[in-house]
Amino acid sequence: MYTPFVLLVCLHSPSVQGQVSIAALDLSAVEQEWGEPHADRSVEGHALSIGGKSFEHGLGTHASSQFAIALGGQATRFHALVGADDETLPKQGSIEFRVLGDGKELWKSGLLHSGAAAKEVDLPLAGVKSLLLLVEDGGDGNSYDHADWAMATIEAEAGATIQSLAAPREEAVVLTPLPGPEPHLHAASVTGVRPGHPFLYGIPATGDRPMRFSAENLPEGLTLDAATGRISGKLAEKGEYKVILTAKNARGTDERLLRIVCGAQIALTPPLGWNSWNCFAGAVDDAKVRSAADAMVASGLAQHGWTYINIDDCWEAGRDAKGNILCNEKFPDMQALGDYIHSKGLRFGIYSSPGRTTCAGFTASWEHEEQDAQTWASWGVDYVKYDWCSYDDIAKDHSLPELKKPYSVMRAALDKAPRDIVFSLCQYGMGDVWQWGAEVGGNCWRTTGDITDTWGSMAGIGFAQNGHEKFAGPGHWNDPDMLVVGKVGWGNLHPTKLTPNEQYTHISLWCLLCSPLLIGCDMAQLDAFTLNLLTNDEVLEVSQDPLGIQAARVAQNGETEVWAKKMEDGSLAVGLFNRGQIEAQVSVNWKELGLQGAQRVRDLWRQKDLGVSEGSFATSVARHGAALIRIFPAKKR
Ligand code: GLA
Repeated sequence: MYTPFVLLVCLHSPSVQGQVSIAALDLSAVEQEWGEPHADRSVEGHALSIGGKSFEHGLGTHASSQFAIALGGQATRFHALVGADDETLPKQGSIEFRVLGDGKELWKSGLLHSGAAAKEVDLPLAGVKSLLLLVEDGGDGNSYDHADWAMATIEAEAGATIQSLAAPREEAVVLTPLPGPEPHLHAASVTGVRPGHPFLYGIPATGDRPMRFSAENLPEGLTLDAATGRISGKLAEKGEYKVILTAKNARGTDERLLRIVCGAQIALTPPLGWNSWNCFAGAVDDAKVRSAADAMVASGLAQHGWTYINIDDCWEAGRDAKGNILCNEKFPDMQALGDYIHSKGLRFGIYSSPGRTTCAGFTASWEHEEQDAQTWASWGVDYVKYDWCSYDDIAKDHSLPELKKPYSVMRAALDKAPRDIVFSLCQYGMGDVWQWGAEVGGNCWRTTGDITDTWGSMAGIGFAQNGHEKFAGPGHWNDPDMLVVGKVGWGNLHPTKLTPNEQYTHISLWCLLCSPLLIGCDMAQLDAFTLNLLTNDEVLEVSQDPLGIQAARVAQNGETEVWAKKMEDGSLAVGLFNRGQIEAQVSVNWKELGLQGAQRVRDLWRQKDLGVSEGSFATSVARHGAALIRIFPAKKR
């Protein structure tokens, strides 16, 4: 369905007589997810060896990898012995080799494990113009997937030109229509607050300005600024308040129900915001955080519900004589920064660790937990990420009580602070944190190590979340880490290395997973494609549905997967993913979804109805791409 526009470029390579080893071609065209391709050596530079047998020639690569070769219709045969290289332990790696000619599959190896003997491929190529050599990760991530195309040769007519083809480049296609001039209210239909704590809510609405806002049934203690659409104040009593929001401009009016639930729980839907780490890491400073807040509003992101502006590590600088945490010179006045963020209707987040130092080696909260929680509250902090790191020097071991302890201590400290502070646990999934993160009062918990902007990292993390869904719900979410779209780089900015289709997969999957969505790019450099990815209200609705049901995998077929979650209105949000390296048909049948009969299918990225389907739905999905659909009973919306 999302067939990309692709560019193919031939790379220079000599013409051949008779037979050419693929390792003699220009290997800069090989794309692989780990390491570098090597001629006549394994990916780690050893002599090629499969199942205890060494080979003199061939290509050493790593899954997932692809190598496209132009044959000009002059090749006659392809021959190779393929397998996982012996430089990993038996069974560690699991891979599948595939050979495609002119886009059609000619051969596949089936699943091969390290330690197994090489498998022979011998194919006639008469008339084939292009060859694509693929290594897939076997469906279990790419760890230890060292792959050898041993003795791989192409036979060709005398004088034939056999050339590497640069990997296809995808065009960044904007799929979502831009918001119109008329008012539209967006974002979650529910929000939580604790009694007696400050409430700040910027009503998210797109449409031409000026816009006037009103709120019917606003409970006592809260007031609305009709010009900015900001609701603030405090609620004294627990309870659920059904407020009717209205936005009006010269083009029309929109109305929407907002449930304000005053009680013990906050983060009733996954937090939406920005965090400084994936773009700036140690280079974060006050000006960059302010610019992120400015861009959150100026770009229109805030109008779709994006709210938090979170500083990650590298703001801390020791303690004063009374033990109060100090900020380094890059943050001259943290309270003023908090006020600035709040003045834009946004919320403010910060970072610390339970040990003596943070992950980047700055002062952390060990034995100052209550004092730090109070300091943060005095700065107006609304979100704290609490990152394990040097707590390893304090914890006796990684037993459950030791893993839980620092988080329970900080939870108790936050409970004494006079504000609502989202508590984000970061300890990379140790001790299956999803099983007890909520019990220690976490509003979200990282389930994995750090994400990077590669397909291997993002897809490896995202698709490994299956099974965690039963631990997520309103107020407590699994967190597979922050977003890697836009300009990221941990202090060394570059456009994300994810292809456009991989980015559609990233956002579709993270919304289905009900993950906190923290934008990781430099917000001052948002491009139209990235902004479009992050402002599709129908896609965000999948993340922000008040039921808070995390998607689970409902079907897997080779490299394709289908994930689904139930929405509050009874409809289903369904992601159809293609983890493979060539376009594939992905289908789902109603039985797998617990449905029957006629269903109306809507394409959420394009915000377009696809008609009524009986029994199943299928669509073509690009390499590493996704289709995100919503399925409604045919007769009602
Ligand atoms: C760890 C976390 C990252 C980031 C850094 C900061 O690696 O997992 O998300 O917070 O620490 O040092």
